[in-house]
Amino acid sequence: MATIQMKVRPEDLSHVPAGKERIPEPVIMIIFGASGDLTKRKLLPALFHLEQNGLLPPKFHIVGVARRPLGDAFAADMREGIVEFGGVDNSDPKLDSFIKKVSYFALNFDDPGHYSALNAELDRIATEEGIGNNRLFYLATAPEFFAGIVENLGAQQMSHPENGHAAVVIEKPFGHDLESAKELNHQVNAVFNESQVFRIDHYLGKETVQNILVFRFANGIFEPIWNRNYIDHVQITAAETLGVEGRGPFYEKAGALRDVVQNHVMELLSFVTMEPPPSFEAESVRREKLKVYQAIPPIPITNAVRGQYGPGVIDGQKVPGYRDEERVDPNSGTETYAAVRLEIENWRWAGVPFYLRAGKRMKKRATEISIQFKQPPLLIFNRMASSGPCTDIQPNLLTIRIQPDEGISLRFGAKVPTSPDMAVCPVVMDFNYAAAFGKSSANGYERLLLDAMLGDQTLFAHRDGVETTWSLYTPILEAWAAKTPDVFPNYFAGKWGPECSDRLLERGGHTWRNNLGKPE
Ligand code: BG6
Repeated sequence: MATIQMKVRPEDLSHVPAGKERIPEPVIMIIFGASGDLTKRKLLPALFHLEQNGLLPPKFHIVGVARRPLGDAFAADMREGIVEFGGVDNSDPKLDSFIKKVSYFALNFDDPGHYSALNAELDRIATEEGIGNNRLFYLATAPEFFAGIVENLGAQQMSHPENGHAAVVIEKPFGHDLESAKELNHQVNAVFNESQVFRIDHYLGKETVQNILVFRFANGIFEPIWNRNYIDHVQITAAETLGVEGRGPFYEKAGALRDVVQNHVMELLSFVTMEPPPSFEAESVRREKLKVYQAIPPIPITNAVRGQYGPGVIDGQKVPGYRDEERVDPNSGTETYAAVRLEIENWRWAGVPFYLRAGKRMKKRATEISIQFKQPPLLIFNRMASSGPCTDIQPNLLTIRIQPDEGISLRFGAKVPTSPDMAVCPVVMDFNYAAAFGKSSANGYERLLLDAMLGDQTLFAHRDGVETTWSLYTPILEAWAAKTPDVFPNYFAGKWGPECSDRLLERGGHTWRNNLGKPE
């Protein structure tokens, strides 16, 4: 298929402000669950990149908190993480000074006495380093500890420090169903005001996700056709080639619907479908997202399908089935693939099917949104053309590639040169981020950590939004929990998911777009 690349003119980029004005106040960041993978692979590399770009306050300190007595080994381990996962040169002089700002405090999450000791330690660091009383608590522990940690912080008045500000960032999953999410919201809001709470979904930190809003609302030509009159249906895919990567016990309780669809995929859906907010401010954006979620009627159980991978081949390598993964029940009923069809009952979207899917061990790693437009009312050219590959006129397709190979492409029909019978071939206009702007190393966490330090909640989930999405998925999760499917595993690793998922689309006269990861 012919592809037309789009470019950014260097003279346009030279006008972009550096964004230096967004430097937060001095703060101590306290990471609970700091011995886990997330801290080493994502959080510390992201913080160091912020430091490299001059975006952290000059007075800043990170305290890793976990149960094991790690002592100084923690900072050394974090340094390795920054080098390995952040692509940083170990001899970078900034790394030496940054690592000096990293310390560790061993704490039993459910021992109240340990929190007063932590509080004293934070006061000591604040005084010695002249940081003041701002604290950012980051909960990266297993979810069952969230409520207890928050309660203990409250009991020590660490949530409302004198002459300072405190905020709490809470990792996903935020609850495991509607009831538990409500309860957690209640527990958190008993200690912190909603303006201090940052429910993180790292998808919202991705440049390409934020660009959905720019694409829609900073351009005049798309919004008029962004509705039921022109759009036939929308597909959102979050496909991974990875399996559960040693996270068996977590994943056994989660599954694909909880782990990715209820949060990451729903965030993508809200950005694609929300009304233009009056401004790009937290309340305006979050209100519009909530309206979308509230307009989704209950999803019939027949519109939800699940799958689990068996052994297969990924990138030429044999991989085991889910039930053979480490610390996974050999008879597990956990889904590693989930797909749903839903509708949004408002004036913009009534009648447009939205198909969402997420899966592990799929054929390709690709997170993409495909917006398929309706065919023109009359196809005058395909009557004239003789048969051949170019006679099947394909509808316009707008594809937003969230990752990898980030970009946006638009497919349209073009006349095949010299064709006497007006043969039409699909061609593609492609905007590729890396080609246009150069490769960006931001991992999503950079933007979100900075926003949390600045107190900007625009790219974080609100309690009502979280509860509304749980209310949509809880009935499906309950129905699935009540009956272990007898056909699991039902797709081979390295394939595009189970057959029942294809049938879900066939019922609506559609097929999954599986040619992901490249302009189409
Ligand atoms: C996490 C899930 O939230 O997102 C993981 O818990 C998943 O299971 C990951 O692999 C996907 O994130 P990304 O940024 O790699 O698409």
